[in-house]
Amino acid sequence: MTTSSSGPLTGQVAIVTGGSRGIGRAISRGLAKEGCRVVVASRTESEAAVEQRFQRYASGTIHDTVADIRQDGGDAHSIRCDLTMDRDIQNLVRETVDRYGRIDILVSNAGIDCEAPVPELDLDLLDLCLATNVRAPLVLCKFVLPVMMGRGSGGSIFAVTSGAARGYRPGRVGYSMSKAALDRMFLNLAEEVRPHNIAVNVFSPGRIDTWMNRNGDWPGTAHIPMVQPEEVVPAAVWLAQQNAGTFTGHLVERAEFGRTWGPTTAAP
Ligand SMILES: NC(=O)c1ccc[n+]([C@@H]2O[C@H](COP(=O)([O-])OP(=O)(O)OC[C@H]3O[C@@H](n4cnc5c(N)ncnc54)[C@H](OP(=O)(O)O)[C@@H]3O)[C@@H](O)[C@H]2O)c1
Repeated sequence: MTTSSSGPLTGQVAIVTGGSRGIGRAISRGLAKEGCRVVVASRTESEAAVEQRFQRYASGTIHDTVADIRQDGGDAHSIRCDLTMDRDIQNLVRETVDRYGRIDILVSNAGIDCEAPVPELDLDLLDLCLATNVRAPLVLCKFVLPVMMGRGSGGSIFAVTSGAARGYRPGRVGYSMSKAALDRMFLNLAEEVRPHNIAVNVFSPGRIDTWMNRNGDWPGTAHIPMVQPEEVVPAAVWLAQQNAGTFTGHLVERAEFGRTWGPTTAAP
C-alpha cells in the first residue's frame, strides 16, 4: 500500500473511534492511505485485554493499527479512549489538537451489541450499549465541533449505524434502539451544523466479517452477504471528503455506494 501525497484528504486530520479492529481499523488504514493523519481511538492497548474467543477477529490494538499505517508510510497516532468516560473523550480531542492542531474528520464507528430477547436482557449491558452507541457519539461531537467550527473551513462527520435500526432482528431490540437513536441524532445534527459547512452523515456498512459479527448469533441476517472490513473503505473515504455543500444529512448503505449515492450521483 502506498500513501497518497496529493489527494483531497492529504494533510487532513481524522479521528476514528473503534480503530483497534474490524471496521474502524479498515477505515483508519483507508483514510491514512489517502494522506489523512489519523488518530486511532479505542480501549485496547495490548492483546491480553481483548476477548480470547474468535481470536482472528478479536486481535488488534490501537497501537497495531498505527504500526500498520506507519509501515505503509502513513501518519497515525493512537490514543487510548474509553468512550463511556467523558474525560477520556475530552482528552482524545485535546491530545489530537495538541499533536495535529486541527480536526477535519470524525468517524464515530465504535459500538457494541446487547443481544438477548427482552426478558433476558442484561440491564448493565443495555446501559453500556446505550452509553457507547448513543451517548458517546454525541459527547464526542460536543467536544470535536468547537474545534472544527473554530477553523471555519468545514469538516465531515459520520457515524456507523446498522440495518437493525430500520428493521426487526430477533434478539436485538436494545441494539436496534441504540442505532435508531444514533441515526436520528446525527441526521438532526446535520441541520444544526449545516451553516458551518460541516457534513454529517450516517453510514450503514452491511454485514461485515468482524469480531462483533462472529461473537453474535444475529439470526435474520444470514441472507445478507458478509464481506471483509476493507469493503467499506471506498465509501468511507468518499464520505470523509464531503462538506455541507456537497453531501450532508443522509443515511447511506455501503452496498449502494456508486449506485444510488457517491461520486457519480448527487444523493440517495
Ligand atoms: N460487523 C457488522 O456486520 C456490523 C454491521 C452493522 C453495523 N456495525 C457497526 O460497526 C461498528 C464497528 O463494529 P465492528 O463490526 O468493527 O465490531 P468490532 O470488531 O467488535 O469493533 C468494535 C470497536 O469498537 C470499539 N469499542 C467498543 N466499546 C468501546 C468503548 N467503550 N470505548 C472505545 N471504543 C470502544 C472496540 O475497541 P476496544 O475494544 O479496543 O475499545 C472496537 O475497536 C459498530 O458500531 C457496529 O455496531 C457492524
